[in-house]
Amino acid sequence: MDRLRLVVPDISRKDEALSYIQEFLDYGSEINGVGSLDRYMNDYEGWLEKLEVDRTMEPNENRVPADTYFLVRESDDRIIGMINIRHCLNENLRLIGGHIGYSVRPTERRKGYNKVNLYLGLLRCQELGIDEVLMDCDADNLGSARTMQALGGRLVREWYEPNIYKTVLQDYVIDVDESVKTYRKVYEPMTYR
Ligand SMILES: CC(C)(COP(=O)(O)OP(=O)(O)OC[C@H]1O[C@@H](n2cnc3c(N)ncnc32)[C@H](O)[C@@H]1OP(=O)(O)O)[C@@H](O)C(=O)NCCC(=O)NCCS
Repeated sequence: MDRLRLVVPDISRKDEALSYIQEFLDYGSEINGVGSLDRYMNDYEGWLEKLEVDRTMEPNENRVPADTYFLVRESDDRIIGMINIRHCLNENLRLIGGHIGYSVRPTERRKGYNKVNLYLGLLRCQELGIDEVLMDCDADNLGSARTMQALGGRLVREWYEPNIYKTVLQDYVIDVDESVKTYRKVYEPMTYR
């Protein structure tokens, strides 16, 4: 069984991190949960500094503190996915974005890795004291919707406001403690520390 863990980005994974993003560009895939790494392709060191600011900043109406992690596979120490966890919400994130963004690299999809990614993210939410996670996805993003459902996500709203967002959006809520308690047996064996 493949086992995965979340790793704090550092300089040692520079080349691999850039090729992670490059793979999304090559496949024309949506990029999500990468802490804006795609905008720092020529300044990885600057991105690491930005992550530190993101992690420790005081929330304001434009930005909230957030953690970004690589999802790494034990067998080959490869970056498989990424996840971005916002410590709290502001008005914008409550409308679009929610607490968590995530992605899995195109060549490693449909293997169940994102469910482990979200499980590990929820463990981090517990540490942060987040009781209830709000997340959203485009209604046609079945991979994301099913990931949230697999961790106990409840669809609370489906809405379409073309002036605000391009497509139908679904909002999901996950009770963090309940999810971890219910799904620990399933996902814990797929993790390592
Ligand atoms: C969404 C994403 C993270 C899913 O990653 P993944 O590793 O393929 O997901 P998993 O293999 O863990 O699958 C999770 C569930 O979704 C289902 N699924 C995954 N991709 C799917 C697809 N394209 N169509 C239908 N179902 C899909 C899986 O079968 C599984 O469902 P199950 O538990 O009922 O079997 C990945 O497609 C991605 O990175 N997309 C681009 C970025 C993105 O959209 N992020 C989310 C923004 S809201």
